[in-house]
Amino acid sequence: MHKIAILDYGSQLTHLLATEVRRLGVYSEILEPEVTASELKDYQGIILSGGPNSVYEQGAPQVDSAIFELGLPILGICYGHQLIVQEMGGKVESGHTKEYGKAKLHIDNAEGILSSFTQGEDTQVWMSHGDNVTKLPEGFKGLGSTSDCQYCVLGNDDRKIYSIQFHLEVVHTERGIEMLKNFLDVCQVNYDWSIENFLEEKLEAIRAQVGDKKVFLLVSGGVDSTVAFALLDRAIGHENVYGMFVDTGFMRYGEVDFVAESLRSIGVKNLRVYDGSAKYFEALKEVYDPEAKRKIIGDLFLDIQKEVSDELNLNPDEWLLGQGTIYPDTIESGGTKHADKIKTHHNRVPQIEELIAQGKIIEPIADLYKDEVRQLGELLDLPAHLVHRHPFPGPGLAVRTLCMEHPEPAEAINLNLPAGIQGHVLPVKSVGVQGDGRTYRHPLALSGNFPSFAEALDLSTTLTNRHFAINRVLWQFAPDQFVNAESVAHTYLTPERIEVLQKADKIFNDLIQKSGDHQKIWQAPVVLVPVQINDLPGESIVLRPISSREAMTADVYPLAQEIIQEFVTQIRAQNLPISGVFYDLTHKPPGTIEWE
Ligand code: XMP
Repeated sequence: MHKIAILDYGSQLTHLLATEVRRLGVYSEILEPEVTASELKDYQGIILSGGPNSVYEQGAPQVDSAIFELGLPILGICYGHQLIVQEMGGKVESGHTKEYGKAKLHIDNAEGILSSFTQGEDTQVWMSHGDNVTKLPEGFKGLGSTSDCQYCVLGNDDRKIYSIQFHLEVVHTERGIEMLKNFLDVCQVNYDWSIENFLEEKLEAIRAQVGDKKVFLLVSGGVDSTVAFALLDRAIGHENVYGMFVDTGFMRYGEVDFVAESLRSIGVKNLRVYDGSAKYFEALKEVYDPEAKRKIIGDLFLDIQKEVSDELNLNPDEWLLGQGTIYPDTIESGGTKHADKIKTHHNRVPQIEELIAQGKIIEPIADLYKDEVRQLGELLDLPAHLVHRHPFPGPGLAVRTLCMEHPEPAEAINLNLPAGIQGHVLPVKSVGVQGDGRTYRHPLALSGNFPSFAEALDLSTTLTNRHFAINRVLWQFAPDQFVNAESVAHTYLTPERIEVLQKADKIFNDLIQKSGDHQKIWQAPVVLVPVQINDLPGESIVLRPISSREAMTADVYPLAQEIIQEFVTQIRAQNLPISGVFYDLTHKPPGTIEWE
């Protein structure tokens, strides 16, 4: 299989670049910048990514000069562009004009990566740079320019080396993917990467790695481990894969059965569902602190794992440990590192520790991106509804059910709100993130005449910037008017509270599935908050749909108001003990995605 190497100089966009290469049908791998030329011989082409440094700074990441002698086509993007210029004898200097955002690229020579363009035409690109190429290296010529960047696209056709100052992998570069395709054509690649081919090759590779051993895998109910399990099962047969799914009692409504049945429906036999819910509720009795909750949940998970490992006698000569690690988990931007994901949580069980220590690990989907894992899941006949689920935190609904020991009285703050809007600080606290630190503060609930989402979000940002007592802003959708709010103290994790949340979560998820919003939303936590509104029976629900890429930052997802109203109607129709319904209007930062 032909493949393209991407040397990662630390750009946030490197994964996107790798994904775009794959979408064009060519396998791509992200490598550390320290990789040597001899390690790159088996690739069809090399891309040097963008990055935050300046090439002339001390300690800026470099490239093995010998890669330019390999005869392979090379493309430099942003930092990569400047690195090529510096390596080839040109000059890079701090620019007088810094250029960020959209710019118009003029095509001076329609060659190489611009071969499908017409000389003299303009196209929109997306720039982000402070440094400029001020002298061309020998043998290179300018292929494209912008008003502030004379040497924006460079090429050396004889050596098949190209470089661009802008980012081609983002949508704001209108014909960026076409440029990438032109580069792949220069590389003379076979367009042979597909998930079907991957499956065929992987089945063989898994059989070769496993030999006559067996594989033990923890199934979390999430997409990755479920697909990994189905893949292993297909490769080495039911009797050789042992999956364990611990039901903590904090899964979504009907989820445990759904995941187990979905796996069984494709023939999987050796999946054990361990019902730990009674143990979990017992261990969490009268526990209020979020971190204490997480620790208890994690520790109990280890105990159960130990029990099952003892039973199975996971001898390293006979067993491998399966993990649902996916490609982004193995890469850290700015350098590739194996992030031993299971380490923090699971390595205290001696048998598992032993398997890890001896490298007896199999990670069958570690080469795939999330999209590709989903495609593979469908190819393995898992139901679409399962493979397209949103990411779900390990401790599940336990971290979406806020617990409160003592009332959390809120002080009134002096708000300067637009006419027709009232605001009240709620007597509860949630986690947020501001600067580098986490905050633990009150949410502010707004009610009255809902403006538009855009206006409400602007107002939210202004309020969280101005008032340090709050880290979130919510809109109260039910009841219509705010009269009073009381803390519901001495609330901890009970089956009854989880059941209320499961039902509310199901109503909301069914609604966004039906409306088609589900697939545009990254995650949509539904949170049970111990606050009683207007003396109505029950606690409150907060809806928190967000859009995001990989959860580092997030934007509030503006859902049609009719859907929110329909949620309220159904909550009331089912007589759920819920007094208030709120919509979280807080981006991340300053709010985290989850509430604790
Ligand atoms: P925050 O709330 O920090 O969440 O914005 C970022 C991402 O991490 C997930 N998350 C967790 N996942 N165990 C997990 O496995 C946890 O304790 C946990 N807490 C947050 C969250 O759902 C989001 O995707």
